[in-house]
Amino acid sequence: MCGIVGYTGTRDAAGVVLDGLVHLAYRGYDSAGMAVADDDGNLFLRKAAGKLDNLLQLVGSEPVRGSRGIGHTRWATHGPPSAANAHPHADGAGEIVVVHNGIVENYAELKARLAANGHAFLSETDSEVIPHLIQELLADGAPFEEAVRLAAGRIHGAHAIACMHAKEPGLIVAARRGNAGGVAVGAGTGEAFIASDLPALIPHTSRVLFMEPEELVIVRPEGFELRTMEGRRASRSVHYVDVPRSILERGAYKHFTLKEIHEQPDAAQRALHERIAFESDEVALSELPLSKAEMAALNRVLFIGMGTSLHAGQVGARYVETLARTPASFEIAAEFSHRDPALDERTLVIGITQSGETADTLHALREARAQGARTACITNAPGSEATRAAECALLVHAGAEVGVASTKTMVSSMVTAYLIACALGQGRGTLSGERAAKRVDDIARLPALLGASLEMADASVEAIAERCFKSRSFLFIGRGLLEPIAREGALKMKETSYIHADGLSAAEMKHGPIALIGGDTPVVALALRNSLYPKMLNAVAQVRARGGPVIAVATEGSKEVTELADDVIWTPETPSLLQPVVATVPVQLLAYRTADLLGNDIDQPRNLAKSVTVE
Ligand code: AGP
Repeated sequence: MCGIVGYTGTRDAAGVVLDGLVHLAYRGYDSAGMAVADDDGNLFLRKAAGKLDNLLQLVGSEPVRGSRGIGHTRWATHGPPSAANAHPHADGAGEIVVVHNGIVENYAELKARLAANGHAFLSETDSEVIPHLIQELLADGAPFEEAVRLAAGRIHGAHAIACMHAKEPGLIVAARRGNAGGVAVGAGTGEAFIASDLPALIPHTSRVLFMEPEELVIVRPEGFELRTMEGRRASRSVHYVDVPRSILERGAYKHFTLKEIHEQPDAAQRALHERIAFESDEVALSELPLSKAEMAALNRVLFIGMGTSLHAGQVGARYVETLARTPASFEIAAEFSHRDPALDERTLVIGITQSGETADTLHALREARAQGARTACITNAPGSEATRAAECALLVHAGAEVGVASTKTMVSSMVTAYLIACALGQGRGTLSGERAAKRVDDIARLPALLGASLEMADASVEAIAERCFKSRSFLFIGRGLLEPIAREGALKMKETSYIHADGLSAAEMKHGPIALIGGDTPVVALALRNSLYPKMLNAVAQVRARGGPVIAVATEGSKEVTELADDVIWTPETPSLLQPVVATVPVQLLAYRTADLLGNDIDQPRNLAKSVTVE
């Protein structure tokens, strides 16, 4: 939550910082701000409440000049979204500026002490204590980088900060403690960059250093120096990140979310890339550090995650149970780590987190690992905290997902979970011969099936959304493997359109929720052809009998559905294990089109942020 950027070099820092903020806006958009310094010791601060456009306009009307700058895009925790609460925050003399991601848990105590020493505060944030703390340490004689290190050490709570002093030309100091989101440092030629996340760096450099917790980095145009929080020098190799710039461009699409929905066939292909050996019909997951004996010894696989990633995990658990014949379940990561779960080395805990930063999921992964369970994460973020929290990381390679609502990363996560299930099945001897060949053939066809699903949904969803976008509530129902997709459809509808929606097993309807049925509550029924299809038809008939409008998502050619439902969104004939992936497309598009008709800011829905780094 919150995005920080920094630049030092010879270019117009305001342009680089603002461009970085544009690419990180998905991390929070309650307010934004930046500070730019010139070589004469002048510091210019610009801050605006609301979305980034407000800051862009402000800087347009009140331009700033300088070759060094830091910026911030905020998801409010302490203090409402306002210009005063926007970062950067400055010390009393206006010479030290700080952008902060995280929470200063002991800010009240620090603030009271600083105020007693004569420091005046201008905001209601916890973050504002940081520049004052640095100023106090400077006054005691510490050099700037040392003052930042000591100040970071006095803050309780995970955080990432970037700091500048007006009178320290070329210098930016960043610190990272605990996990409040990452900090990546990009190396250029005669210039350097800092960002919470790769999208802000990709346009400028492919040489990136990911800071680890408890580290400080001293950044100058000519290079950077890494230190531990104890002040010792540290070194680590720089990563080469190879991400095409087009991934950051919206192209002809109205929203990134729509572009990312349409990228799903490619995203699935990338998740599969080099992980299937067709000659042997085997899935090869070199990242999974389990020997055949260890796989055979597993007695439980548990998927954890939050929101959309949890839904992907719910599907993943079904894959493992079916393909690897191992008891598998799923759980909300935030609940898992607070209930003292019984774990041992025969349990494999798989955390799904596209951002690799979700505090709840990281906490749960660490907890599981500490208790001796085997751990893995499925993530779209190389170098992220999740890749360190778990024993091994399976990258989904979906490419940057800019829309705050997860779309293609969910599809890629389900594909990766399928591959894990196949690998476990092979290792445990439950998936071999023709069955293995069939599963491998099926998944290889998935990108094409997703393409067909997109085409079919595109043909009908717009007209359906036009008929129901004024509804006050939606229900999404499914059975078996499609139940998690009902939940996902409801989540997408809620977060993009702000219409109340609930997703549940169709079997639950008659135990209560059917009381909600009336003319104003469309029911989206995931009625694809599979073993539970007849039961779904019964559920649809029961809704229709009570006057509820039904939008069915069905397998092409299913006549029975046409007779029962008001509208049908077709999907291609798909092997039942892959139906949840294929059925994700129409529910995403229905939510998207509904939200678009309502005129919502779909890429940045209100109150949300792409990575949730606070518990
Ligand atoms: C998805 O559309 C949501 N915005 C949200 O539920 C998200 O899936 C959840 O916060 C988990 O994020 P993660 O995958 O980055 O861990």
